[in-house]
Amino acid sequence: MNANGETIIEVEHLVRRFGDRAVLDGISFNVHRGETLVIMGGSGCGKSTLLRHMIGSMKPTSGSVKLFGEEVTGMTEREIERVRLRFGMLFQSGALLASLTVGENVALPLVQHTDKSPDEIEQIVKQKLEMVGLTGFEDLKPDEISGGMKKRVGLARALALDPELLFSDEPTSGLDPIMTAVVDELTLNLTKGSHMTAVVVSHDMTSAFRIATRMIMLGHGSIVAQGTPDEIRNSSNPEVQQFIHGKADGPIPLNLSQEEHKDHQHVRPRPFFGARFRFHHKHP
Ligand SMILES: Nc1ncnc2c1ncn2[C@@H]1O[C@H](COP(=O)(O)OP(=O)(O)OP(=O)(O)O)[C@@H](O)[C@H]1O
Ligand SMILES: [Mg+2]
Repeated sequence: MNANGETIIEVEHLVRRFGDRAVLDGISFNVHRGETLVIMGGSGCGKSTLLRHMIGSMKPTSGSVKLFGEEVTGMTEREIERVRLRFGMLFQSGALLASLTVGENVALPLVQHTDKSPDEIEQIVKQKLEMVGLTGFEDLKPDEISGGMKKRVGLARALALDPELLFSDEPTSGLDPIMTAVVDELTLNLTKGSHMTAVVVSHDMTSAFRIATRMIMLGHGSIVAQGTPDEIRNSSNPEVQQFIHGKADGPIPLNLSQEEHKDHQHVRPRPFFGARFRFHHKHP
């Protein structure tokens, strides 16, 4: 799996309920140094929620998350701040501050967490923006750049402190195929030689298979499948095959009502109520 086997993240029996619905229903897995773990699964299955628990910004209903050996679920905001110095997070929305320029957004973690001089910070900001192909965009505001550019600024900011661990929520959504390849290449370079560990949420199967050393597919609150990219590619699980090949028909239902969602513990192929039937039924 990796050379030294050092465990960077341990998630154990993680449960998160919203009301009486368990979005995460007892999830356990580990991430080792140098791995790139790709988390995939249908929209709304809980991928972003899982990431929020991994970075300590959401508290679970029960279960444990350890980062670098430290339990984060019971930490105060102040204690988590210390752990946050060791990882970067790219949020699904980009989460840039609209009142700051691109350059100021990338500089934010450096200003907040280091005593580097303005000149040093400017140099680092330049270098990080160059890594994501945005040289010269320092002075624009987030609403003056495209969605894909915002994503890349978010990534530059997540990398500002040279983290040993990077969480990325859909880093390539909204990027064209070339920019996707650039961002994937960046992840591959950063994780090469176990320098960085990455946890990446992705729907983009080309990108996922390019960067992953291990993959987890989430569904109905649980881990549906996990393994190396080859194991996932060759999985006999029909849900996995439907997902990775992006087929409309298959065991994964499209329109889950609240009730169905709640009761949806284990999805099995249902030939008469397959995805296509539901879709047409609800949108004639
Ligand atoms: N704070 C919250 N309060 C109530 N429900 C929530 C909250 N956060 C997430 N959820 C619910 O949890 C479920 C999973 O949401 P999440 O954002 O984790 O999905 P996702 O897998 O990241 O989806 P996508 O691929 O569309 O980004 C959704 O049904 C969502 O409505
Ligand atoms: Mg999400």
